[in-house]
Amino acid sequence: MKKIGKTLPKELIDNSGKQLERLDTKPALLDLKNLESKNIYYFGTVDSTNLIIRRLAAEGAPNFSTAVAEEQQEGRGRLGRSWFSPRGTGLWFSMLLRPDISNRIDITPVTLVTAAVLANYFREVHNLPVLVKWPNDLLLSGKKIGGTLTEIIGIPDRPGYLVTGIGLNINQQEIDFPGELRLRATSLALESGNFYNRTELFLAIKETLEKAYRLFFSEGFPPFQKLWKKHSSTLGQDVTLSWTGGTMRGKALDLSKHGELLLQDEQGKIHTVNYGELI
Ligand code: BTN
Repeated sequence: MKKIGKTLPKELIDNSGKQLERLDTKPALLDLKNLESKNIYYFGTVDSTNLIIRRLAAEGAPNFSTAVAEEQQEGRGRLGRSWFSPRGTGLWFSMLLRPDISNRIDITPVTLVTAAVLANYFREVHNLPVLVKWPNDLLLSGKKIGGTLTEIIGIPDRPGYLVTGIGLNINQQEIDFPGELRLRATSLALESGNFYNRTELFLAIKETLEKAYRLFFSEGFPPFQKLWKKHSSTLGQDVTLSWTGGTMRGKALDLSKHGELLLQDEQGKIHTVNYGELI
């Protein structure tokens, strides 16, 4: 009898003769088209979503406008570093914030707010033990799963705005990280064994962040200082602070109400730190 259709190679059939499930190896793209009416702008390849938000802001885009991309070719990280943003795997997005500055809220800890809220979200909703390393690294199993980069833009004679950029490693497999990064970075999928629907994740995270920013711009940092401290991997640890001018060893004692790290050096002197990174 003539066979109809393709015969599958042997290795795709298990011992009982059952055909093995084939997963599509192409990354599923985000399903975010036609959301401009909600001020969500979805792109394929961009330079950086932070730059897109700056351009949208210059055209008068409203508070919470969001740019999300499948891939960034000039993804930017803290301290002038680049941010690895391969296609279709993580979430790379930026939000425009136009706070009402008349209530005199100190906006500088906004990046710690973002990190604390994201860690809380992953812990509460996805049961993943994400921690925050000062100031805003998101860690899972001691490796980085995400980070946030906030730019505060001042405009002469006009209210300024903020761009808050968020990078989250979601569905990457080990092979997706280039050599050296593989030692320091991981993804939600790698740590949990699950594959995530990035569209659902993005929409839930955006809503969670919007709610948090509204509270932050009315109440200030105190509720988030508490949250940051609750999910911190830093406090109580012996750490080394590194900055362009040098390094300092000490104990991370506390987080100030402005988001600075209180670091006690080996001579017992306490420093208030608002720049640099812990290595
Ligand atoms: C860090 O160094 O930890 C911060 C990384 C922030 C990366 C995100 S990805 C989306 C947005 N666009 C960028 O160019 N950077 C931020």
